[in-house]
Amino acid sequence: MDLGVDDVAQRASTGDLPVEEHVTSLVAAAHARERDNTRGVVADYIPVLAEADPDAFGVAVVEVGGSAHGAGDVHRRFSVQSISKAFVYALVREELGHALALEEVGVNSTGLPFDSVTAIELNDGHPMNPMVNAGALATTALVPGSGAEEQWAFVARGLSRFAGRTLELDPVVHASEAATNRRNRAIAQLLESYGRIDRRPADVVDVYTRQCSLLVDAHDLAVMGATLADGGVNPVTGERVVSAAVCRDTLAVLAANGLYERSGEWLFEIGLPGKSGVSGGIVTVSPGKAGIGTYSPPLDRAGNSVRGQRATAFLSRSLGLNIFASAVHTPAARGAV
Ligand code: DON
Repeated sequence: MDLGVDDVAQRASTGDLPVEEHVTSLVAAAHARERDNTRGVVADYIPVLAEADPDAFGVAVVEVGGSAHGAGDVHRRFSVQSISKAFVYALVREELGHALALEEVGVNSTGLPFDSVTAIELNDGHPMNPMVNAGALATTALVPGSGAEEQWAFVARGLSRFAGRTLELDPVVHASEAATNRRNRAIAQLLESYGRIDRRPADVVDVYTRQCSLLVDAHDLAVMGATLADGGVNPVTGERVVSAAVCRDTLAVLAANGLYERSGEWLFEIGLPGKSGVSGGIVTVSPGKAGIGTYSPPLDRAGNSVRGQRATAFLSRSLGLNIFASAVHTPAARGAV
């Protein structure tokens, strides 16, 4: 869809966070409010995930200026799972460009569960968006490299640049998922049958499974989110990871699709782009302000961390992050161009 705005510069729509001490105390409050909430069920469809500690709970915020705030288990590591989809998409979008990424992977929601095969069939083999498994596999297939090892090196290096440290693969999670991911293998084969991927399906699933097995913690997620909030520059390392245009495109995809078939409810309540994963993590991005990372394994029926959603909703409200929440215009508040 050409809307005739390619020659129009994108201006940022951003404000400021409260002072740092206030952010610190609100992060502590977000954690305290949900600490005793035991609702939700830990995922077990990847066998090793069932061993996660349901009591683990961490809330982290990293500002675009680099300041970090945390409460609870912010350094407890877990496999990144589907949250990797957001960052692999950003890296691939950088390589592909705006128009091709739109055409090849898509941005529209399926309204169906993340591992749906029906969604592929209903859409003539199109993977629809990069946050469901079909689109994520199609995205991983587009990672540059002459084979699976080169692609994997690109993904691991890229996600590490987002995190600002070298992320490592959890071999136990990887083995558990590789032994049981028959559905993802079927999805990759179906995409191949529609001519949507031109690499060996088994190799695509292999790289995707490895990317899901990378270990992160809530603080890492906040840094990764802050990089997307900061026009693509990691605020801790100062490294440019992707362009500002890639951040904009990635955040639009997250806003529409980041929390599975609950993405509309998430946007309605929280008003920010985010991405959840079945191991219990959620990354949320407040453009121009901060990244939020939460970790708590018990999930709702759609696969989103219960405490993570609630803690993030509290922070969105109390820190004034909802991108749809405006205030009455006052001339004095107008900034210089
Ligand atoms: O592919 C899978 O089923 C897992 N590696 C990731 C699932 C997940 O986190 C939910 N995805 N949107």
